[in-house]
Amino acid sequence: MQALHVRAVARCLLRPGFLRKPAGGLRRSSLGSRRQLLLLSTPIFYVNGPPHIGHLYSAVLADALHRHRELLGFQGGRLSTGTDEHGLKIQTAAATAGICPEEFCDRVSAEFRDRFAQAEISYTHFIRTTEVLHRQSVECFWAALQDGGWLYQADYEGWYCTAEESFLAASQVTECADSQGRKQMVSIESGHQVHWTREKNYMFKLSKFQEPLQRWLYENKDAISPEPYYQQVLQWLKGDLPDLSVSRDRNRLHWGIPVPGDSTQTIYVWVDALVNYLTVVGYPEKHRAWWPNVCHVVGKDILKFHAIYWPALLMAAGLEPPFRIWVHSHWTVEGQKMSKSLGNVVDPKECFRHYTVDGFRYFLLRQGVPERDCDYYDDKVIKLLNSELADTLGGLLNRCTASALNPRGIYPIFSPACFPRDVEIQNGSSKALAEDYKLVSLVESLPMKARASFDRFQIYKALESITECVRQTNGFVQRHQPWKLNPEDPADRQWQGTILHVAHECLRVYGLLLQPVVPAVADKLLSRLGVSPTERSLKDLDFLPRYHGRKCPFEGRKLGPDTGLLFPRLRKIRSQPIRIE
Ligand code: MSP
Repeated sequence: MQALHVRAVARCLLRPGFLRKPAGGLRRSSLGSRRQLLLLSTPIFYVNGPPHIGHLYSAVLADALHRHRELLGFQGGRLSTGTDEHGLKIQTAAATAGICPEEFCDRVSAEFRDRFAQAEISYTHFIRTTEVLHRQSVECFWAALQDGGWLYQADYEGWYCTAEESFLAASQVTECADSQGRKQMVSIESGHQVHWTREKNYMFKLSKFQEPLQRWLYENKDAISPEPYYQQVLQWLKGDLPDLSVSRDRNRLHWGIPVPGDSTQTIYVWVDALVNYLTVVGYPEKHRAWWPNVCHVVGKDILKFHAIYWPALLMAAGLEPPFRIWVHSHWTVEGQKMSKSLGNVVDPKECFRHYTVDGFRYFLLRQGVPERDCDYYDDKVIKLLNSELADTLGGLLNRCTASALNPRGIYPIFSPACFPRDVEIQNGSSKALAEDYKLVSLVESLPMKARASFDRFQIYKALESITECVRQTNGFVQRHQPWKLNPEDPADRQWQGTILHVAHECLRVYGLLLQPVVPAVADKLLSRLGVSPTERSLKDLDFLPRYHGRKCPFEGRKLGPDTGLLFPRLRKIRSQPIRIE
């Protein structure tokens, strides 16, 4: 395997102008239109603590993007997630728990897996860095770096931050006092304590990649988004880019993958962790079908690792940088940074219990804006879900499918005479108003708008547009008050059917578009409308075909059974039970 890999790497590196190769047309294409197999990834999560809502946010974002692509017909893509199990942090956490690291990792990794299953994260791969296959892939990757001449040994000393698993430059640390007034050195960025550390390490020639990285970014303006993060990386690249220490003394860190051929050193946990993205696509033998069609969803705190170290390591190993890095900001809790010491870490399990899984997914994706930190507090979740899912969307479905209005329980019949295609046509039976035509064109453009938002990693904007349309549809129903029409009168009956048909069609579009975000709620809505699982693709979404003179396959069809409220109204939480103890 190793020989095969080295040959492959050599081929890549020997390709003339490998690092200068301009991005191909595909690289510039949007995620949605990229027909090739695409790997979407979440970061792999440290197992030194249980899953919290920040972790869940990374996972739900990636999941919604993956589901959206599948619904657009891009089948066969992968969604990877998993756990990052090596390193000093984990070694120490296991020692504190009084169990061996293997058992400790098994336990916490299972918690992540369970939580993600509960959250309906539709991952295709759950990777653990302690798996044999991953270890082999890391060893191959290391060999590629070494064979390429990108590694050397050096005596290294500097400030080491265990929490960040990194050496920091003097400019990145500062002195401050701890809670007992004792002086200590801390990382300026994270506030975590650092220690002066001296050891023999393998170094990676990161400094050689300053220019190739800049070129990659200039040629791929969408490689990192949102834009402020792209600018931030460019800014970093203007400063010093020292070589990177990529191994640790095994006496200090034994919980990790040994450097091949040197049992005194352990591979740096970040190199080990980043290679997970290659492991899930079958590196070193099968990754070519995928690479570089990968899109990494990451939090802003790990941007440097993904946007500088990872692309440089990949180039050194003869591979291209990832297609996209999508960065999200952080959740604070009632205005404060979430941290164990403040005791305000929010437990997803409790959130699911209080708000339902779909409710909490909706909250995270609707309120989470990748460009800026977002604040979590219980009342905010309750207000949002009651207003948008229970009242506005649930209320609309309830009103339109009520048996008093639709005693036969069928998908209502549209009358082109009541709602003629041309707004200018005035005939005796035409009832639609100018605002109604506005609604139709708004909903008609919604799928494209939502798709554009997903493609730009702005899921919150897609949800904002959907909610606006749901509100307008409620306004439409309210304006025409179909419950006041007389079903015995043929003209009234036609108009009533038309109002309800339009509302059903709108609801069908909302249900289809909401599937990646709230799969269970969307399923309930679509099932109630009688839309079968084979009719839920976004690829050929045809809104209101009768209005355009086409046949509507749903019209006259029996509706699905009434299974109760679409989304329950939530009550205020009195105590504060949703923190991790
Ligand atoms: N193990 C590394 C990632 C290696 S990927 C090759 C790691 N793990 S982590 O568990 O600390 O964080 C995983 C993800 O959770 C990151 O994307 C991080 O940004 C995210 N979050 C952690 N806390 C968060 C918030 N408070 N809010 C939102 N996301 C945050 O880093």
